[in-house]
Amino acid sequence: MDICDKIVDVRKRVNAWKKEGLTIGFVPTMGYLHEGHKSLIDAARKDNDRVVVSIFVNPMQFAPTEDLESYPRDLQKDSQLCKDAGVDLIFHPQPEEMYADGFCSYVDMNGLTTELCGKSRPIHFRGVQTVVLKLFNIVKPDKAYFGQKDAQQLAVIKRMVKDLNVDTEIVGCPIIREPDGLAKSSRNTYLNPDERKAALILSRSLKLGKELIESGETDSKKVIKAITDSINTEPLAKIDYVDIVDFSTITPTDKIGKSALVAVAVYIGKTRLIDNFITQ
Ligand code: PAJ
Repeated sequence: MDICDKIVDVRKRVNAWKKEGLTIGFVPTMGYLHEGHKSLIDAARKDNDRVVVSIFVNPMQFAPTEDLESYPRDLQKDSQLCKDAGVDLIFHPQPEEMYADGFCSYVDMNGLTTELCGKSRPIHFRGVQTVVLKLFNIVKPDKAYFGQKDAQQLAVIKRMVKDLNVDTEIVGCPIIREPDGLAKSSRNTYLNPDERKAALILSRSLKLGKELIESGETDSKKVIKAITDSINTEPLAKIDYVDIVDFSTITPTDKIGKSALVAVAVYIGKTRLIDNFITQ
């Protein structure tokens, strides 16, 4: 397994693989890899001849008030996980490599980014789209793998690829959870033991919402209220949003049908956690 921090070095390898007619699967990450990331790598490994993982904590998608500095990093541990999972190449650039002096081009969209996380993180998706398109242009993947954990991000990337005719297939992968139900996240490391227990309120409340829908409830307002009331029973939890939108357009839906994204963002202490499910 190679680790490259320069774009030219990635290009050399990728172009050689392309010449040989090999397919490339790509998993973009910000590192501090866990089982959630590994599930994407495993899917990429199964479908493709070569697998590339990027590890880059992208400054452009963090607001000044957010956790860019404290975001956990451990390249050595990440490299071992990647090696064990059969990754061929890690791309680990420094910010200066991705954003040269004078950088001033961005990818943005009007729809999809205004609801859910877009409300409290207004510059976030512009940063995500810009870095993901740049990474696609560097790695030139046949397929790229994204987790449903970040469902709005997955919808945004699918839309971007369609709108801008990017020749990469986007593959969505299910949420990987801890045995007790908490969705795996690099940010779970911020939680102290009390907060870790309190964080279970996200998956528990969503489960309650899911059961309500499965028992025939289709009124979004009622489901949102049930989830909200449940989260509010946890003293350490502060709701950012509880919402139900159409998964592909990320627009609010009053009546729950197929492909409704039921999503929550909740502060547990200072840590903002997200979780969701999509109706069948
Ligand atoms: P990061 O948070 O590191 O996540 C990388 C990928 O792993 C994303 O597609 C995310 O949805 C997926 N993932 C994280 N936790 C998961 C879980 N518990 N189950 C399944 N998949 C999970 O998302 C980003 O990085 C960045 O925004 C990025 C796309 C790399 C752009 O900078």
